[in-house]
Formats: sequence, C-alpha cells, structure tokens
Amino acid sequence: MDPQAPELMARRRFLKLVTAIPVLGALVAVISPLLRFLKPNVEKFKIYAPTTGDTPKGEPTAVAALREVANPWDSKYFVFMQKYPQYTPEGFKAANVPGVVVRLPYPITLFDPATGQGPLSWAKEIGKTPTVTQSDIIIFSRICPHLGCIYNYVANYKEVTAGYGGYVPPPERQHALMACPCHLSIYDPADRQTPGRVVSGPAPRPPRTFLFEVRGDQIVVTDVEPGGIA
Ligand code: FES
Repeated sequence: MDPQAPELMARRRFLKLVTAIPVLGALVAVISPLLRFLKPNVEKFKIYAPTTGDTPKGEPTAVAALREVANPWDSKYFVFMQKYPQYTPEGFKAANVPGVVVRLPYPITLFDPATGQGPLSWAKEIGKTPTVTQSDIIIFSRICPHLGCIYNYVANYKEVTAGYGGYVPPPERQHALMACPCHLSIYDPADRQTPGRVVSGPAPRPPRTFLFEVRGDQIVVTDVEPGGIA
C-alpha cells in the first residue's frame, strides 16, 4: 500500500467538507424564506401586524386590587409586558415595563375630553379614549425618563432628603415622592397640573403613564404611553 494513501484520503475528505459548506449555505438561504412563507409571523402575505402597525401592545393586565391601594399614598409595584410587532415565530418581541400604581389624596384630571389635555392625552396617538378621566389613582412607568434607570416610590419624603442628594421639598410637596437612585431625579406624583412633575434633578419630563380601567375590584392596565426613555 502506498504509504501516503491515508494522508491523501484525509486530504480528500477535508476538501469534500470545504466544498460542502457553500452548498449547505445556499440550501439554508433557499429553505429559510420558504419556511417563513409557510409559517408567517403575523398573517400570510403580511409582514406587519394588520391593525396596529408598529405601535407597541400588551395584554390587559390586572396590576392591583382596589383594596391594595385603598388609602392616600398607598402604592403597588407591578410589571407590564409590552409587545412590539416583530418578525419572530411569535409575531412579537416582548419587553417588561415596571410600573407603580399610586393612590393620591385627591382626584386629578387624567384626561380632559373637552381639550384633549392631561397625562393620558397620548392615548389618542394609539386610537384609544381613556375611560377613567378623573381619578385619585394614577399609574406611572418606573423607567426614569433621564437615562432609563428604575426609580423608586418613596413613601416618606424625609427618606428622599436623606438618600437622594439632600433635596428638601417645599411644604406643599412634603409627601410621598418618586426618586431615581442613578442621578437623583425626583418627581411629584401628586402635582395637580402635571402629575409626575420633575421637582429636582436632570430628568427632562415626567415618567410615562399607563392607561387603565377598573374592572370589578381590579385595576387593569391596558396600554403604556409609547416612546423612548425620554
Ligand atoms: S436615570 Fe434616573 S436620574 Fe438619571
């Protein structure tokens, strides 16, 4: 036997393998779109969600029972799953948005049907009309509009002074506040004109809000204000 035969055979096998790689690549390139055609992400022949365009959506989610936020300044944290239409096997990509339900000591205007103004005025952008327009319940996203950290609801304003950069609220704001540990932005959830108003720190705007309904004894979130971090 030729002493070089095993080496020649190994070389041939290697060459066969190398030439097979582009063939396999070409097969994948043909089969992948075919599989996507046979199992589309949203609907046959459509690449976008038919009714919502690229507006993020989520399933209505019960986030608190009324009794859990029965008294002024009660609060409840929750997480809402936001869904973006995407070209994936599920037809969406999910992102978790942490939020906080706050019971204020007085009702505020969330949406004025006459002027279209209020913290929930964004609802019309997604084709919704707020059903709760006046309420002492308000629901904020906990994503800080400065650079996207998760801020805290701090029931005692003295803890804000002690732990978030020494901010001393004026008498009318000496109540629960929302405070971000990253760059010390502080928000007043109960500001009558602009709930969530930035009262200290670098945040450019109040936190985004959630649209909600009251179903039986449950507070149900249906949508979160669209937009980026700020
Ligand atoms: S991320 Fe919250 S203050 Fe900067």
